[in-house]
Order: sequence, then structure tokens, then C-alpha cells
Amino acid sequence: MITLSIIKADTGGFVGHSAVHPDMMAEARREVERAKDSGLLIDGAVASCGDDISLIMTHTYGCDAGLIHSFAWDTFQSTTHIAKELGLYGAGQDLLSDAFSGNLRGMGPGYAELEFEERPSEPVLCFLADKTEPGAWNLPLYKMFADPFNTAGLVIDEKMHAGFGFEVYDLYEEKRIIFDCPSDLYDMLMYIGAPARYVIHSIRSKTLDITAAATSTQRLSLIAGKYVGKDDPVMIVRCQSGLPAVGEALEPFAFSHTVGGCMRGSHHAPLMPVPLKQSHTSRFDGPPRVVALGFQVHEGKLIGPRDMFDDPAFDHARVQATEVMDYLRRHGPFEPHRLPLEDLEYTTMASLTKRLAHRWTSLTTEVATAPT
Ligand code: F6R
Ligand code: MG
Ligand code: MG
Repeated sequence: MITLSIIKADTGGFVGHSAVHPDMMAEARREVERAKDSGLLIDGAVASCGDDISLIMTHTYGCDAGLIHSFAWDTFQSTTHIAKELGLYGAGQDLLSDAFSGNLRGMGPGYAELEFEERPSEPVLCFLADKTEPGAWNLPLYKMFADPFNTAGLVIDEKMHAGFGFEVYDLYEEKRIIFDCPSDLYDMLMYIGAPARYVIHSIRSKTLDITAAATSTQRLSLIAGKYVGKDDPVMIVRCQSGLPAVGEALEPFAFSHTVGGCMRGSHHAPLMPVPLKQSHTSRFDGPPRVVALGFQVHEGKLIGPRDMFDDPAFDHARVQATEVMDYLRRHGPFEPHRLPLEDLEYTTMASLTKRLAHRWTSLTTEVATAPT
């Protein structure tokens, strides 16, 4: 069995929250090389999307392994150190605790992990997104694993026809459920259509009895007076031979769907599929970006990556995202561009409520006391 782990954090932005400085990338790569030399990792790659660094690693320690998580934590401390030296923006912003304790749950960094028996050929896609939340994967995952208009294999591949089991988390109540699709499809859509609360955590093939996809859905934790674990998600999707073909797994991103999380974590905006070289966010701190890195995993080695959205076939989605961004931006501070009040990451509502309390008068009282 091997484990593929993507562990990611924002440890400082260059410039503002738009991208990662090359010196930080170089430092993360040095650390990953050292970990390979020491035998901790079988292999590793480092990539960034927006202001987040992702460590993509293979090893034999399983999911939630203390050794791997503490390695990532230490690496992010080193990149934070560089960010501080260069005066980069928000240095160490995702390292919310002073000391590492066991694993990264609730400590700021996000992670998607999959432990599996390597198949004779193991094509894997690693998706990294910036300026959005883990629920952003709900719609594309639904299309990949449950929509026959996206994934032809659901209809014509014997190994896919029985469908997939979707593990969904309720982030607010810290509960989970498995939906058996296609029979539970309509039930499931009622939940995952509300991606700020209900998030797909993993997907399992009913025929092959293997896990096919995992996302960085961490339970929300209240740290430093703020909910964490919702930011800038990553996802692993295994492909082919009874799982969605690589092209079926990429196809949902040809539609630039609207996600929560842009500008101050408080706006809806379209998710733009981009090659690595276009993964920095500049317009209204967005639009939110997604990159897809393809690997063949062979004896634990990461053969790759191929930059899968570096393809003119996604040009139209990028144009569509720009048009949708124009349209949403014209709403300014109005919903549905701005998130509903309860989902805002920045808000002045608490202080307004106090300051304006005496000016709000009850309509019912006015009616009762109106002169006759
Ligand atoms: C950060 C993000 C940005 C910031 C915004 C304001 O990931 O989404 O949109 O929220 O740039 O940042 P501050 O308050 O740090 O000036
Ligand atoms: Mg940032
Ligand atoms: Mg980010």
C-alpha cells in the first residue's frame, strides 16, 4: 500500500495574496528532496496555485501520519521564515498554532490523502484551487462520478455501471453520511447543492471496492476565534480502468461554475481552469483558479506532472469565467455576488448592529402606537 498526500498552506503571498515567491518554492523543493534522501518520502513534488504551496508526496505511512504531517509543518515553517525575511504578505498565515501536535487537523494547513494498492498503471490527477472552499469540488465530483452526460463510462463501462458511494460531511454538525449512487442521487443533490455546508470528502467504486477520490475537507475547527479548514482546497482523483477516464475527470472544468471564496473570502465568482503559469490571482483577488497536475504513479514514484489545463480546449472556459466575472462584479456589494450574511469571512455587521441599534424601530410597535 502507498499513500498519496497533498498537504497545502498559505505561508505568505507575493504580491498581496496573489502568488507564492520563487524563493519559498525553492525552499519547499529543497525540503522535499531532503525528505526523499532520508527515506521519509518515496517521492515528492511541489506546486503552487495562487498564494498556496502544495506538497504532493508519496510514502508508506498511511493517512493522518504524524511523521508526514510534521514534515509538512516544518517545511511550512521554513517557507514562512523566508516570507518574513522578504516581508511578504501574510507570512505564516495558515500556521495557526505555535507547536505541532500529532497531526495537522485544525492547525491551518489543508490536506487530501489517499491510501491505495497501486494498480499496474495508476493515472492520478491532483487538483489545487485558490480563493475558494472545499465545497467547490462538489459539482465537478458529481459530474465525474454520477452524471452520465459527463462520464460516458457510467453508461457503457461494465466496471462503472453499478455506480459509486459518496462520503459527504456536514461541516457544521460534524457528521457524515454515505450516499449510494445512482439510487441516492436525488437525496444527495439536496445536500451537496449547498456546498458551504455539505462537502464531498471521498468517493468509492462499488464494483472495484477502491477509493477513487479524496478532498481536503477538514472538519471546521474554531481556532484563534475563527473557523478554519474551509480554505483553498485540494483534491486527488484516480483515473481509468473502471474509474473516470482522465478526460472525464477534466471535462467538468470546461464549465466555469461559480464558487464561494473570492475577495475577502466573501464573494461568489467563477472557478477558472488554468495552467500553472496562469495560476496567480489578480482581478478582485481572483477569479478563483484551479490547476490540474497529472501523474502516473509507478512504484510510488510520481511520474510527471503534466499540466492538464495547459490546453486550448479550456480556452472557452477561461473566456466564460471572465464574462461571468464581469457580470458578477457589476453587482458590487449585492448578493448573489456577495455571500449571504452568515457566510461572510469579513463583516461589519456586528459593529453595525451595536451602533445602529437605537435607530432601528419596531414596525409592529409603530403600528400599535400610530395615531387614529
Ligand atoms: C486571501 C483573500 C484576499 C484577502 C483580501 C484582504 O486569501 O482571499 O481576498 O481577503 O486581499 O486581505 P487583508 O485583509 O489581509 O488586507
Ligand atoms: Mg494569502
Ligand atoms: Mg490562498
